Amino acid sequence: MTQPRHAHFTVFLTQSGYHESGWLVQDDDAVAATSSIDSLARSTAIAERGLLDAVFLADSPSIELFRAQYFPQVRFDPVTVLTALGQHSRHIGLFATASTTYNAPYELARRFATADHATGGRFGWNVVTTGNANAAANFGSDPHPQHDDRYARAVEFVEVVRRLWDGWEDDAVVGDRASGRWADIAKIHPAEFHGDFYDVTGALPVPRPPQGRPVLAQAGSSEAGIDLAGRTADVVFTPQADVDAARAFRARIDAAAASYGRPAGSVKILPGIAFVIGSTEAEAAERRRALEESADPELRWRMLAHNAGLDPALIDPDQPLSEEAAATAEASTFAQVIIGRARETNLPFREVAQLVTGLPGGLEFTGTPEQFADLIEEWVTRGGSDGFTLQPTTLPDSLELFVEHVVPILQTRGLHRTEYAGTTLRDHLGLAPVPASDLGSVVPA
Ligand SMILES: Cc1cc2nc3c(=O)[nH]c(=O)nc-3n(C[C@H](O)[C@H](O)[C@H](O)COP(=O)(O)O)c2cc1C
Repeated sequence: MTQPRHAHFTVFLTQSGYHESGWLVQDDDAVAATSSIDSLARSTAIAERGLLDAVFLADSPSIELFRAQYFPQVRFDPVTVLTALGQHSRHIGLFATASTTYNAPYELARRFATADHATGGRFGWNVVTTGNANAAANFGSDPHPQHDDRYARAVEFVEVVRRLWDGWEDDAVVGDRASGRWADIAKIHPAEFHGDFYDVTGALPVPRPPQGRPVLAQAGSSEAGIDLAGRTADVVFTPQADVDAARAFRARIDAAAASYGRPAGSVKILPGIAFVIGSTEAEAAERRRALEESADPELRWRMLAHNAGLDPALIDPDQPLSEEAAATAEASTFAQVIIGRARETNLPFREVAQLVTGLPGGLEFTGTPEQFADLIEEWVTRGGSDGFTLQPTTLPDSLELFVEHVVPILQTRGLHRTEYAGTTLRDHLGLAPVPASDLGSVVPA
């Protein structure tokens, strides 16, 4: 009998949980739990105890004040926080989100290379283009670039970053005291990149990261997002509502990867799943009900408008979404899902907001550990995914329940590791090591 494949898991880390009511249904110190780094460290420790692959911090370089009125909006810089959490953990991988629209590639390559060194090769970069148009106002007077323009920049941005990481050959530092020669500078290659958006000439002041390259994740599911993933991503975070849709999505990712000469299976697909676990179905349903009932309806429709990039001033929540308001949407996957749902139901926007909760178009689970393990087994064995991006609705509770009750079932079924076999995030995800020989093909001599 062939062994079932291990599922891979990354945890969508927030202070009090993915659900906007997560902080309301817990009885810890609300201020300390939601505005300190300690709660992130505690959840990371739980994830590592469960032998999960990685934790993941989402990001946008802005704050949405309308949300802060209702639920925690503390967003520490992901690279800094995860580097710190790397000092309090030994094995678990650490995915930091960073925007290609609101960073400079040289500076970002240096920060991630540093983080990979500081954590012994456990770092990953979730490459996003930032859908949130409000971010533009924090970076000067240029308008927020359109969806496909952002992706065109992202393609170049990632290429520059990879060149910079590859710039130092693995044995560039010789440290030869006898000859007084510290580095073989013929093995430190300047990027010499001159593209449509970026000109980066020099090399990084950081030796090649321990993983060669930190793991690249990509979280866009549009045509342009799939193309970027096919070119460069090792991992894709995506909203997928059912296993058949996920299989079709995988086929598109594999085709995109193949068009860039990469073998099928090069890209691990980890759909998001927001979950509530109970010891019985009734207990789980009751927990879900408590979360949903605590969610403010005003917040719900405003969040939905925000996630689609809609102008809230044009929305009457007691009416179906007007075409005038719909025309202000972002050209993103999230916007397509939200506007599609508004049109097909024709319900007042306030009611649409009660239907599209969590990650728009993504999977939600409410049930027992056994049922959760069944779902994971079905998705992984049918090829819908390589595992999941776990979105614990409450933290640390939901994650603790997953680790205590779902992980042992998965282990019994041969779907989850019983110890960390390797030391790097690449090892955990079963990704091929980055060959040193890539240098010649990527970096001009
Ligand atoms: C699980 C998951 C996590 C995401 N995290 C972020 C994030 O942290 N920051 C961000 O700007 N976008 C995030 N996104 C959104 C995508 O990166 C992307 O910007 C958005 O979906 C628009 O791209 P698309 O139209 O190609 O899907 C996330 C998406 C998913 C599915």
